[in-house]
Amino acid sequence: MAKYTDFLAISDYTAQDLSDLLERAHRLKSGEDVSKLTGKSLAMIFRKSSTRTRVSFEVAMTQLGGHALFLSDQDSQLGRGEGVHDTAKVLSRYVDGIIIRTFKQEEVEELAEHSSIPVVNALTDLLHPCQVIADLQTVVEEFGPEHSARTIAWIGDGNNMANSWLNAASQLGFELRLACPEGYDPDPDILDRARGLTTILLTRDSAEAVDGADVVSTDVWASMGQEDETLERAAAFETFVVDDTLMKRADSSAIFLHCLPAHRGEEVTASVIDGPQSRVFDEAENRLHAQKAILLELMG
Ligand code: CP
Ligand code: NVA
Repeated sequence: MAKYTDFLAISDYTAQDLSDLLERAHRLKSGEDVSKLTGKSLAMIFRKSSTRTRVSFEVAMTQLGGHALFLSDQDSQLGRGEGVHDTAKVLSRYVDGIIIRTFKQEEVEELAEHSSIPVVNALTDLLHPCQVIADLQTVVEEFGPEHSARTIAWIGDGNNMANSWLNAASQLGFELRLACPEGYDPDPDILDRARGLTTILLTRDSAEAVDGADVVSTDVWASMGQEDETLERAAAFETFVVDDTLMKRADSSAIFLHCLPAHRGEEVTASVIDGPQSRVFDEAENRLHAQKAILLELMG
């Protein structure tokens, strides 16, 4: 693998290096790879809530023989207005890597620019790359490593998850079909780039997106930071529900993915998320293995 300094977006990594990362995540999960980060420390900046990302990164560092520090806005100087520039320079003197979950992608980029240690994007309004690496690991576990043979359907908001799926499709060459309500399309630049690199369908019709697909994925209608828009989004997304009828249009061996947290009865029915095609808890577990692979590549 080429030596990367950060993991800010899937589009920064080549297809070969993404495949190597997924292969390593698989070996870490199976116990074949027992690499360590003994004595290394990871600062974890969270400016938004988290269950999976925080716990999986913290446990990953413990299991790798290192240590993780949780820094929230409530109890760090970031929350009182200290900029990421100084934070980057200070943390670089203490720890060996930083993960950050925040609002603006530019803040993550600024942090990386001023850090002399690796920075990992743990979710922004624009992207959620660690999640999509774990999702890809789950897809490979189910169907094997031939990414280009798969068709992925995304139902609902053109949000940080949809944008990261577009980046993954761009790099790995699989077909991605997105069904989004008007006004909730993915980021236009990320969409344009993906259209130049692989087969992308953007439709207003969930059934068209799902037809014969191998993977059906969705996410909440209102992401973190969009709580004020909950009511208007509920109206706009009313028909963008993953239910049994929609799943029947997918390939008979199709799986359902959701990054979680989920709202049963909104974007997905309980029968789908708790049903036999759902892989959501394997997907959540794979955060741990996929992120260990990322940390080892960057900090090892
Ligand atoms: N999927 C995900 O990132 O979950 P958390 O918000 O709980 O970290
Ligand atoms: N799109 C969601 C993902 C949560 C893991 C959000 O940004 O809130």
